[in-house]
Amino acid sequence: MSTISPLIPAQGASPGSLPAPLNPILGRDTEIDQVLHLLDRDDLRLVTLLGPGGVGKTRLALEVTRRAEPDFAHGACFVPLAPVRDHRLVPTTVARLLGVAENPLVPVAERLKDILRASHVLLVLDNLEHLADAVSPWLADLLLHCPRLKVLATSRRPLRLSGEQRFLVSPLPVLDPESGVMPSSPAVELFVQRAKAVRPDFELNEANARFVAAVCHRLDGLPLAIELAAARVNVLPVPEILDRLADQLSLLTPRRRDPVPGLQSMRFAITWSHNLLSAGEQELFRRLTVFVGGFTLDAAESVCAGREHGMTREGAVIDLLGSLVDQSLINRVAKPNGDSRFTMMESVNAYARQQLLAHGEAETFAARHAEWCLRLAERAEHRLVREVDTSWLDVLEAEHDNLRAALGWSLDPARSRAGVALRLAGSLWLFWYYHSHLSEGRRWLERAVHASNASNSADWAKALLGLGNLAHSQGDDGQALDCLTESVAISRALGDRWATAFALSVRGNLSEDGGDYDEARSFFAEANTLFDETGDQVNVAVTRYHLGVVAYGQGNLERALDQCLSALALARDQNDPWTVANALSYVGLIQIDRNHTLEAANALSEALALYGQIAATERIVDVFRRIAVLAHVRGEARAAVRLFAAASAIGERFGAVQALPERAAYDRALGLARRPLANGEYESAWESGQRLALADALAEAHACLGAGEWPPLARPGGPDSLQGERIAGLSERELAVLRQMADGMSNQQIADGLFLSQRTVAHHVSSVLSKLRVESRTAAVAYAIRNGIA
Ligand SMILES: Nc1ncnc2c1ncn2[C@@H]1O[C@H](COP(=O)(O)OP(=O)(O)O)[C@@H](O)[C@H]1O
Ligand SMILES: [Mg+2]
Repeated sequence: MSTISPLIPAQGASPGSLPAPLNPILGRDTEIDQVLHLLDRDDLRLVTLLGPGGVGKTRLALEVTRRAEPDFAHGACFVPLAPVRDHRLVPTTVARLLGVAENPLVPVAERLKDILRASHVLLVLDNLEHLADAVSPWLADLLLHCPRLKVLATSRRPLRLSGEQRFLVSPLPVLDPESGVMPSSPAVELFVQRAKAVRPDFELNEANARFVAAVCHRLDGLPLAIELAAARVNVLPVPEILDRLADQLSLLTPRRRDPVPGLQSMRFAITWSHNLLSAGEQELFRRLTVFVGGFTLDAAESVCAGREHGMTREGAVIDLLGSLVDQSLINRVAKPNGDSRFTMMESVNAYARQQLLAHGEAETFAARHAEWCLRLAERAEHRLVREVDTSWLDVLEAEHDNLRAALGWSLDPARSRAGVALRLAGSLWLFWYYHSHLSEGRRWLERAVHASNASNSADWAKALLGLGNLAHSQGDDGQALDCLTESVAISRALGDRWATAFALSVRGNLSEDGGDYDEARSFFAEANTLFDETGDQVNVAVTRYHLGVVAYGQGNLERALDQCLSALALARDQNDPWTVANALSYVGLIQIDRNHTLEAANALSEALALYGQIAATERIVDVFRRIAVLAHVRGEARAAVRLFAAASAIGERFGAVQALPERAAYDRALGLARRPLANGEYESAWESGQRLALADALAEAHACLGAGEWPPLARPGGPDSLQGERIAGLSERELAVLRQMADGMSNQQIADGLFLSQRTVAHHVSSVLSKLRVESRTAAVAYAIRNGIA
């Protein structure tokens, strides 16, 4: 058994990729070495970087992580936690960054433990202070169960866990400028670097060096404070910055020094920077704090601007925002698609938030934020349901923290905004479903339904529909049945034909997955008619596809094929890639049963390509199973078992549950594929299949699909499999090497097994590749499997 978890990519492809800072780290050599040393110690599992906001904890953690990452077999995962308000979402956030989706039936914290138990990972929990107490028990439990896991946390407060190693991060060292000579220091370099960002011709020279050093000294070497001051060089000469800073300090400093170095300087720097803002900038700055987890320009414009609320006009937001970015109060993050997203540093946010409260604007703008979230969610819902435009799922994922904030705000009993919460949750359920936020979505929907007194309304029916669907996908069919039945009844009573049709189709799924095909058929048939009447052809195709699935479940292959082909044609007309792929993938299964293996292979091959394009990995895994059924029917038992095993291991990560009709087909095929395999062969095929990475499994799946065109040379395990020696002119040694490659062995493992040197094995491998005329190891393995060599 492999000790490496199949769920976490091996070294190189690191999960939760590290944010790449734009500028090199300045100074901190000693600290980096010290923290690396702590992480290296066998007796330490949790290291917390402590210090006030803006002192450079996150920057230091990033650098340490970058350097330590190669020492961890499964890499490092960087988890920014500042936007996470609810401690229960910490495991979810970590899991998402590790590429592990919620499994419908197992709580995410348990899954995470399972996965990390066998993994050698550095988990970096950044900005943990606001969650410190609440997550401590979870973290302690995680560390207890995952012996090779190490955690690096950054926090303003200690986590108070036994075994926690605290590391105090001090501000950058500064020299008293009165002391004479001015050697360059990281603090001064930081000032110069950030000053150049706003004024490219800024140079450190004899005239200004003393003042720069004095500014850094005044600010106690606190990096964020230095950045804020340096951002002003485009309007103020450095001596003036120093003067104004001194004024500010004398104004605000009571004589006592803060026990935590840097804390006070941070407050000064922000206050100072804030006071230099124009009234419009100040206004926008404080209002932006209603966002959680960042925002887009569009969002800032629609939430923060408006004639009735002060001077910030919509058109002016772009300039004001640009100016806040120049002054380092807001960060701009460029997205791969060229768009920008904006964030506010935590310590800055805390100050700006106080300003918002002081101006009495908190409620007004939180309400506008919630309205914006609602508009976004409803627009996305419409696009998802009517146009199957799944790009909206990513938009909602990017705004998830904002949506959570709006839900939390509107559910506060003091506000009586339960109507907003109900609409918001009701329009988000599809997103929660498709992106596997099952437990969380269910929690919000339950809270929204309980808080609302709008029973019998359309919004209520929609929320119940979502709740029913999420409950079903988590296996709670009792709750699902109640919610869906009620939802259908309300929509019917309201006379809303489209909503009734939609509810009926979700209700039909419940019956279909439970194997109650007669009942399912009547729900889908009625839904199909209603969608047709309301002119929603996209959903006519969806329900027709389901009628095909149900017919398959009833054993009526001809009817099943008929419905699926007709759904396929309609879905192609409607440009709905999901239903096209779903229908194709069912056509594949049906054609296998009808012994039309070539048609099956064609349909499955197109389905595979389409799911690949829409990045539906859990569906790709399901196609693997169908291809495995095909391989089995074609007599390629070993290939079938390997693909089933790969699907099971990779599918684990997505927690996809299979509907009943196809599940029965899979179980049957796997059972039968086992029979012709000799003792131990099944187990070895299963184990090696489980180790396949997604890309390798894809190559094998393609190889199986192509097998129709090349009649297999030898049946695996059959009497002629030993005749394979002369295949492609491979020598006996090369064949042995190829078989071991197919078992997922590395060159080193093959060398050990065959008593050869690793160099000799490498030589054999390359000659195998050239004789088979393939470019990669994966392709060679696929060839071997296709030809029954492995
Ligand atoms: N050693 C350093 N070199 C360059 N920039 C730094 C350094 N330390 C901190 N900074 C910058 O200062 C700001 C605050 O640092 P950060 O690490 O976010 O602080 P914290 O996490 O302690 O609140 C960031 O913009 C960061 O990039
Ligand atoms: Mg930080």
